[in-house]
Amino acid sequence: MPFLFALDRGRRTAKSAAAVLLKWAGCRPGVVFEMDNQCVCGAGALPAGEAAMSKAAVRDYFDRLAPGWDAELVADSKKIHAILDAAGVKPGARVLDVACGTGVLFPFYLQRGVAGVLAVDLSPAMAAIARSKATGPIRVVCDDVEEMRGTGEYDCCVVYNAFPHFPDPERLIGGLAAWLRPGGRLTVAHGMSVEQLNAHHAGSAAKVSRGMLPAPELAERFRRWFRVDVVVSDGEKYIVSGVLKTDAGAGEAP
Ligand SMILES: C[S@@+](CC[C@H](N)C(=O)[O-])C[C@H]1O[C@@H](n2cnc3c(N)ncnc32)[C@H](O)[C@@H]1O
Repeated sequence: MPFLFALDRGRRTAKSAAAVLLKWAGCRPGVVFEMDNQCVCGAGALPAGEAAMSKAAVRDYFDRLAPGWDAELVADSKKIHAILDAAGVKPGARVLDVACGTGVLFPFYLQRGVAGVLAVDLSPAMAAIARSKATGPIRVVCDDVEEMRGTGEYDCCVVYNAFPHFPDPERLIGGLAAWLRPGGRLTVAHGMSVEQLNAHHAGSAAKVSRGMLPAPELAERFRRWFRVDVVVSDGEKYIVSGVLKTDAGAGEAP
């Protein structure tokens, strides 16, 4: 497992340089140790390939998986309903489905009588399957959601089973804030525990994923833009959800 290091003669400088690296890499504080009159601060271990995760690699990876995705998928309705309850998806809601994949959540949105869904996915193959299932108020766009301009009109923004595939948590959270109306809600959720998720991403997905932050840490990252009122991390699901602050400066880079 590779490490990031900050190297300086001063202990304090090495530590603050490492803090910058930590923020960039989204990993945990490391230890400071001295070596040949230099202070070295390790900025945490990253699974191989994580620092180099590129959008092209993510897109190609999911393009390859798309044809078999639905056959592999186990959609647990009870968990999904718990997540959509926390996400505030209710009749009349306008929903931004971030990284919709093949559209696993579409039947649930329709069941809940939403007014509109903009479903975005980076992978053309995933988006094509999602589009083939989009009915009623659901519209599918194939794009990098981080390169799209937020419209400030959505009630709910849902990132389901996709957060580890975004390279920079704060960039994503700040960008998604710009899609929400005042009082709108952002939810990041997974239908498995952090441990299961990280184990799931340890194999071939390591080069297109980063380690999932523990829920309280993700909640901290939300707080610049959101008032967090849901933090769930148990043996079968993970949910962090919050309401957009009125003075949030949505869309600002962190
Ligand atoms: C693990 S899949 C989950 C898909 C779906 N939410 C599900 O639960 O079946 C992650 C998805 O994130 C999409 N994705 C990754 N980065 C993205 C980005 N920058 N913009 C939009 N979609 C992205 C991938 O193409 C992929 O379809």
